[in-house]
Amino acid sequence: MGFKVAVVGATGNVGREMLAILAERSFPADEVVPLASRRSQGVEVSFGDRTLKCRSLEHQDFSDVDICLMSAGSTVSKEWSPKIAAAGAVVIDNSSCWRYDSDVPLIVPEVNADAIAGFRKRGIIANPNCSTAQLVLALKPLHDRSRIKRVVVATYQSVSGAGKDGMDELDRQTKAIYSLQEIEAKKFPKRIAFNVIPHIDVFMEDGTTKEEWKMVVETKKILDPKIKLTATCVRVPVFIGHSEAVNIEFEEPITPEEARQILSMAPGCLVIDKREPGGYATPHEIAGEDATYISRIREDATVENGLSLWVVSDNLRKGAALNAVQIAECLINRKLIQAKQKAA
Ligand SMILES: NC(=O)c1ccc[n+]([C@@H]2O[C@H](COP(=O)([O-])OP(=O)(O)OC[C@H]3O[C@@H](n4cnc5c(N)ncnc54)[C@H](OP(=O)(O)O)[C@@H]3O)[C@@H](O)[C@H]2O)c1
Repeated sequence: MGFKVAVVGATGNVGREMLAILAERSFPADEVVPLASRRSQGVEVSFGDRTLKCRSLEHQDFSDVDICLMSAGSTVSKEWSPKIAAAGAVVIDNSSCWRYDSDVPLIVPEVNADAIAGFRKRGIIANPNCSTAQLVLALKPLHDRSRIKRVVVATYQSVSGAGKDGMDELDRQTKAIYSLQEIEAKKFPKRIAFNVIPHIDVFMEDGTTKEEWKMVVETKKILDPKIKLTATCVRVPVFIGHSEAVNIEFEEPITPEEARQILSMAPGCLVIDKREPGGYATPHEIAGEDATYISRIREDATVENGLSLWVVSDNLRKGAALNAVQIAECLINRKLIQAKQKAA
């Protein structure tokens, strides 16, 4: 007997990807229950070669659910995750609601899988922000070889990171530009079509944005609190796939050749690094892929022991849905949970 898995936010960008990944990876589920708001009751969503009908979250009984993959935003998670956990399901949450709670593990399985055991305190496991997930995946194997002192990162984040409304806005604005119509900016603070916006999430008191703050705090929690990090997060007119330009300062020397070797062997990473036109990854090519792609590995000669990298990943997969499903697989493989029906 397998597990009963609920997917909250099943009509959204991340939720749809979760359903696709559960089916692709033949996740050991006897039943998958897609849930969304009352508005989406009865809406059909794909699950492998089947379609499932969405139910309303507020009418769901979680007493026989084993795992709940949540991707319906912080407000919904704040209210529902504790209730779902109290009913005995392990919640794996994609919002930022629980990430900074010291009783909630924040997990990227390739990086800190051992921390997952801490889930019992609240019954909740947090998935990091999409930009953090791909960054720590690239940093971890290098940090194991030579301690990282400081990271400077600039992100180029796709509109799907802002949900389905973000994708619709880029689509609408692009069409409006070509048909000489008025351009409306609703989801993003300025026009995103043929533009870039150095502002994601709200501004903090010190002038950084919350998205930038998240990368700092989450990298420390997942990888090492001693790492200093500064980020500039930018929204770009790309539908799927986040890119990052990363400068790393190490304690000990590490050559680009060594780094290339280490990253080629690292779980979840794929190196594409030919020093010729087109010999690097871009978001357009890697959308729909599981790996985090690393290119442009070179020395940063402006600091002692410096390296620069280009890191690209599908934000809906490793940045959200895939990571959440991998966390669920980790719980099962490590025998940290058992199907309720089997246990009864
Ligand atoms: N997109 C990314 O790259 C990414 C990466 C990491 C984390 N995340 C996080 O994942 C979450 C979802 O992101 P997304 O991109 O999938 O957003 P989205 O495309 O806007 O989808 C939102 C989902 O939440 C559901 N929802 C909204 N209000 C609800 C309610 N009251 N009760 C039940 N369901 C409700 C929506 O259902 P209806 O269709 O019924 O409204 C929809 O299924 C967010 O917390 C986001 O920060 C996203």
